[in-house]
Amino acid sequence: MLENFWYAVELSHEVGTTPTPLRLLGRDYVLYRDGQGRAIALDNQCAHRGASLALGWVEGGCLRCPYHGWSYGTDGQCQHIPADAPGTPIPKRARVQSYPVQERYGLVWMFVGSPDLPADRRPPIPAFPQFESPGRPATYSRHVFDAHFTRTMENAIDTSHALFMHKGAIGASNAPQNTEIDDYEVTLAEYELAASLPIKVNRLNGVMRFVLQQDDPEAHKSYRFALPNITYSAVQFGRYKIESIMVHIPVDDETTVVKSVNIRNFLNRVPGLGHWLDGNTAQVGNKIMQEDDVVVKTQVPQVAPYSDMRQELLVASDATLIAYRKLLKQYAGPAELPEDVIPAERVAR
Ligand code: FES
Ligand SMILES: [Fe+2]
Repeated sequence: MLENFWYAVELSHEVGTTPTPLRLLGRDYVLYRDGQGRAIALDNQCAHRGASLALGWVEGGCLRCPYHGWSYGTDGQCQHIPADAPGTPIPKRARVQSYPVQERYGLVWMFVGSPDLPADRRPPIPAFPQFESPGRPATYSRHVFDAHFTRTMENAIDTSHALFMHKGAIGASNAPQNTEIDDYEVTLAEYELAASLPIKVNRLNGVMRFVLQQDDPEAHKSYRFALPNITYSAVQFGRYKIESIMVHIPVDDETTVVKSVNIRNFLNRVPGLGHWLDGNTAQVGNKIMQEDDVVVKTQVPQVAPYSDMRQELLVASDATLIAYRKLLKQYAGPAELPEDVIPAERVAR
């Protein structure tokens, strides 16, 4: 649905010389590193008889199919057919598609779209300079959602559910009377949106209470969404900041793998306490994703209804979602659902 974009598809450290299968938007690819350590992305099905190249191995920088041993260069062209006599020409069609790849912020980005689109006309990889060389190693997390990626992304930039649904996990006030969201601005750029809002935190949990006890507890949360599959969130308590890039990998219509890269700008010099905080943050993050998962997979329709906002009833605090759907509408073409399947009670009057 969103073509001609750089998709973040994997954490860099999870791609090595052992081929890794990647299922994206219902298609199968294989990722691996060549002899120089460059990340390579190819179609996964061998041109010979369709075996999975991800079951093969890297040999001299080429990827060898496990079935009859055809060997593919990084451009996807077959370079060796073991069963042919030496000197036999290799058919031109003995190739698989290869895809442009870049690595930024500890993530592998693959360009999904027309091979004819000139490189300088590709939309850019979003800018996250603070992730280029963080003050301490990033931490990572992962969750598999049984939901469409438009829904998991919306969930990640949905401002009003966090204090309501995750209040236990984030140590927020005892809602619901204290969960109203003040009006906030959403900035829309060509391929992304951003918003920042104050959050009300009456009670900090565990280690955060200890770390921040001397500091101004005024808290802000910032959100970004960048086409096609990135959300970002930051929580700032005074001068302390925890930031995450979340990659929503659309496996198929029913499954989205969310992987995140997390950094913070404090406790860099207190390894023991830092380690403890990382563990605590990961635990809280996992609890939050579990809580999200239970609800997000029940949403109807399955694909966020970006073509026709009337299919849901969005209110002022949903400003990020309204902006998100505008971007989708602009770049993704019409949504699948025809208008006549809108349940009448969900049409705003
Ligand atoms: S199927 Fe790959 S070499 Fe035959
Ligand atoms: Fe959530």
